[in-house]
Amino acid sequence: MSGIGLLRLSAVFGALRGQDGRAAKRLPLLPMLPHDLVLFIKSARTDAKVERLRRDLGSRAAFDATYRESNDPWASASPRYRYQWLKYDKLIALLPRKNFGRALDLGCGLGLLSQKLTQRADHVLGIDIAPAAIDIARQRGAGFSNLAFESGDILDLSPSLNGCFDLVVVADVLYYLSPLDGGALEAIVKRIADLLTPGGTCLLANHFFFSADRESRMSRRIHTAFSDCPRFAVTSEHRRAFFLATLFSERTDTIAA
Ligand SMILES: C[S@@+](CC[C@H](N)C(=O)[O-])C[C@H]1O[C@@H](n2cnc3c(N)ncnc32)[C@H](O)[C@@H]1O
Repeated sequence: MSGIGLLRLSAVFGALRGQDGRAAKRLPLLPMLPHDLVLFIKSARTDAKVERLRRDLGSRAAFDATYRESNDPWASASPRYRYQWLKYDKLIALLPRKNFGRALDLGCGLGLLSQKLTQRADHVLGIDIAPAAIDIARQRGAGFSNLAFESGDILDLSPSLNGCFDLVVVADVLYYLSPLDGGALEAIVKRIADLLTPGGTCLLANHFFFSADRESRMSRRIHTAFSDCPRFAVTSEHRRAFFLATLFSERTDTIAA
């Protein structure tokens, strides 16, 4: 997200919040408070670090090293920042059915969204490229009987997963995949469609700041690739501060391309 945009928002929220901070309690729908800006700054630093490491080590080792150095590199689990928690709740609220059979959280990180998905699915599997993230996700999710985690790369998923999931969630992951040019993005979209049961649901969510920054434009490109795939029909699209979420259903009326 652009720094200038964030600073403007911070000023607006700061003014709304008032000197003593009490007004914030009367504005529960504000997406973020001024100190939530730190979350975005931390995330941008982590992204830059992953990018540097990836050039030398490759994706798996780069993400793994990042989680080994800080067990919460995107500060997603910190109670200090409410933005990420609100976002997870909003994503869960968008789901079109009360209950799903098997759900998959692709690029699950620490498994925080996976945990929330257990309220809406009989069984949830979280997959992440970083074994260190999976270790932490397993520890954090030990109390959930219907939750499991596995290490794996979205670009190299086992064919045994095909047709297994009524719901696939992909939140803030695909813009880390490289390369995403040529037909690579289209191939990833088809691979995700393969994971679904006929008519299954895919929830795609990515950072979005009114297309004002490079990352938002990439998010738009990713969502468009899903919309353009004949295997998916768009069920609904939701722009929220500061993410874009689209729900797709796997089309049962097309022959797999
Ligand atoms: C910003 S975090 C998002 C985590 C989680 N989806 C959430 O919303 O809290 C991005 C995650 O994508 C994972 N990731 C990146 N490339 C991946 C790949 N090729 N396959 C699986 N996971 C990947 C990273 O390890 C990291 O945990």
